[in-house]
Amino acid sequence: MRHLISAADLTRDDAVLILDTAEEMARVADRPIKKLPALRGRTVCNLFFEDSTRTRISFEAAEKRLSADVINFAAKGSSVSKGESLKDTAQTLEAMGVDAVVIRHSASGAPYRLANSGWIDAPVINAGDGTHQHPTQALLDAFTMRRRLIGPDAGIGQGLDGRRVTIVGDILHSRVARSNVDLLHTLGAEVTLVAPPTLLPVGVDSWPCEVSYDLDATLPKTDAVMMLRVQRERMNAAFFPTEREYTRRYGLDAERLAKAPGHAIVMHPGPMVRGMEITAEVADSERCTVVEQVANGVHTRMAVLYLLLGGNEPAVSHSRTEEN
Ligand code: CP
Repeated sequence: MRHLISAADLTRDDAVLILDTAEEMARVADRPIKKLPALRGRTVCNLFFEDSTRTRISFEAAEKRLSADVINFAAKGSSVSKGESLKDTAQTLEAMGVDAVVIRHSASGAPYRLANSGWIDAPVINAGDGTHQHPTQALLDAFTMRRRLIGPDAGIGQGLDGRRVTIVGDILHSRVARSNVDLLHTLGAEVTLVAPPTLLPVGVDSWPCEVSYDLDATLPKTDAVMMLRVQRERMNAAFFPTEREYTRRYGLDAERLAKAPGHAIVMHPGPMVRGMEITAEVADSERCTVVEQVANGVHTRMAVLYLLLGGNEPAVSHSRTEEN
C-alpha cells in the first residue's frame, strides 16, 4: 500500500494489520513517554482545504508522537484565495521537502487525483474528500468496535465477523458511511443503513449492506449503532424532513436505545448535533464511544503513518532502555 485513498482499497489482511498496529500504538500511549522515533527526519504536511477539528488535530498528534516534522497548511489564509491550484500548492509543498501529504478537500476525488496524477511523489493519505471517503475514520471506528465488542487483546488478528452495525442518518452526504460500509464488509460485519428515503444515495441497493427506514425495528439486532450528523451545509432544504420529524423517527434517545441489546455501543464520528440526532443523555452515557473514538483516532493514524512511511523496523520497542 503506497497511498490510503479509499477504505475499499484495503484487503482484510491490510485492515487487520492496521488495527493490530494501532493496538501497539495504544499501548505506547499508556507509557510515561508517549513518543516513538519511527518517523524521525521525515516531514508530513497536513493539507486541509476544508474545516476539521478531530481529523486535523489527531493527525498532527499522531505525526508528532512518531517524531515526524509537521507542516500544517490551511487553505484559509493561503495563496489558494488568489487562485492557486491543488497541483501548484502540492508541488510547492513537496519542493520544501515534504515526505507525505494528508489531505482533506471538499471535492470528491481530490486525494485520488493528487496520488495518481504524477504531480508529486509523496504518499497521500485521504483525510476526507467531499461525500466520497474518509478511510481513517472507518479504521478508527473499526478499531473502537473491535476493542469494545471483542477486547483489546482478544481482538488481535481478528476482523469483526458476524458483528451487526447500524448506521443511521444522512447517508447521502456521508463519506463516513461509505468508508464504514466498505471496511466493515471487508472485516466480515453485517451493516444496515437506516435513513429517510431522501437521504439515501441512488445506487445504495448495490452496496454490500441492508437498507431500512425503520430504526426501532433494526435496533434489537445491533451490536453498534453509529449516528451520523445531518450535513445541512451540503444539502438542499427539499432533502430534509422537518427537524422534529427527523428526531421523532431517526433520533436516538434513551427510550429508543433501550430497544438495543444491553451490550450494544453508540458511536458518532463527530461533530454531534445534540438534541436532533442524539440526546445529551445518550451522548454522555457509558455506552457512547464518541470520546474514545477520538483517542483511538490518534492510535489508528499513527498506525497508518507508520505502515506507509516507517519502513521495516518494528514500530514499538518493548525494552525499558529504548523506551527512555
Ligand atoms: N469525524 C471528523 O472527520 O471530524 P472533523 O470534521 O472534526 O475532522
